[in-house]
Amino acid sequence: MVIKTLNIQNFRNYTSLHLELDDKINIVYGENGQGKTNLLESIYLLGFTTSHRSFTSDNLIKSGEEKAIIKGKIIKEMPYNLEIDLTRTKKMVKIDDKVVSKQADYIEKMNVIIFSSEDLDLIKGSPGERRKYFNLELSQLSINYYSALSDFNKLLKIRNEYLKELNLNMNVDLNYFHILTDYLVNKSIFIYQMRNKFVEKLNKICPPIFEEIAGIKGFNVKYIPSVELESFDKENIKKALEDAYNNHLEKEIRLKSTLYGPHRDDFTFNIENNNLREFGSQGQQKMAIITIKLSEIEVFKNFKQTSPIILLDDVFSDLDNTKKNNLLKHINKDMQVIITTTDLDSIDEKLLSKAKLIHIKNGKIVKKEVEK
Ligand SMILES: Nc1ncnc2c1ncn2[C@@H]1O[C@H](COP(=O)(O)OP(=O)(O)O)[C@@H](O)[C@H]1O
Ligand SMILES: [Mg+2]
Repeated sequence: MVIKTLNIQNFRNYTSLHLELDDKINIVYGENGQGKTNLLESIYLLGFTTSHRSFTSDNLIKSGEEKAIIKGKIIKEMPYNLEIDLTRTKKMVKIDDKVVSKQADYIEKMNVIIFSSEDLDLIKGSPGERRKYFNLELSQLSINYYSALSDFNKLLKIRNEYLKELNLNMNVDLNYFHILTDYLVNKSIFIYQMRNKFVEKLNKICPPIFEEIAGIKGFNVKYIPSVELESFDKENIKKALEDAYNNHLEKEIRLKSTLYGPHRDDFTFNIENNNLREFGSQGQQKMAIITIKLSEIEVFKNFKQTSPIILLDDVFSDLDNTKKNNLLKHINKDMQVIITTTDLDSIDEKLLSKAKLIHIKNGKIVKKEVEK
């Protein structure tokens, strides 16, 4: 899949930008603070409807403006237009100029994988950050996952309300509370199974990639559910969750919160049994992230029969040549890649000669200097 054109208005430091992109390699260059990351962010946002570095729309909209618009023409067999309109209170998504009310219909329309400095949070950050990442990836791969997760989140919210009321000794319909818990368990089963399947896939693809770029064997991802599971069979997950809820109801009431389930799971990235979060050097952590992202490309190709659009935000500057080349070997095939850099010299010459160059200065494209 490729993004052919990008139009942005009043997004970050852009007032208005129209960009035609190359199907293969695009290099966005310019000095620091000029809007390179903002440009990638707009493409990421077009795919995911949320930013990779900001939770609120507030700072996404250009200061002093009320509304930001991002549009892109995507080609995957057939062309279609995606659009996101952001105001400070609302977000509207459109496919071919029609407003889409179900986000699930939108989110699978464009697949993006970004490599950026924020990625380190995946290892260093909280479990919530890792869940967010896996949820996003799985949602892009499967509408069913996305739907199960949003149903789950709705049920979770209601169940937590009930726990609050129980805590206050309010007169609560316990029958309904138990039915709600059953629903929650049922939605959880699918989420657990999908997460497990995804991690199993990653563990097939990742170790050789990590070995290639880091020279170390034994890389793996572990899925750590919040309840102990002997297997990911339906019955087994069901029983484990039911037991957890039955045995800890008092504690849940006391803490007014659902303590077990997919919203409490975690994932670890390891070399053998050593969690890179505690044992990995900064360099190893970075290479682990690159490995995960590269493996996603493979997973996408298998699941979706199309390559995702790859965004590389300033990742070349602190990699040595071997690592750079290893990274490029994986992405420089038949995919659309959009790379940002402050320093064109850090980019491989062969790559540079094939690329479309986009010079950004202060939220604008610098028009090509007159050919000599
Ligand atoms: N909402 C906003 N309105 C106007 N300018 C913004 C907004 N958000 C960020 N910026 C500006 O964008 C610039 C940073 O752009 P960025 O894409 O991160 O730069 P870089 O080219 O280094 O990647 C900064 O000058 C910042 O002030
Ligand atoms: Mg940047």
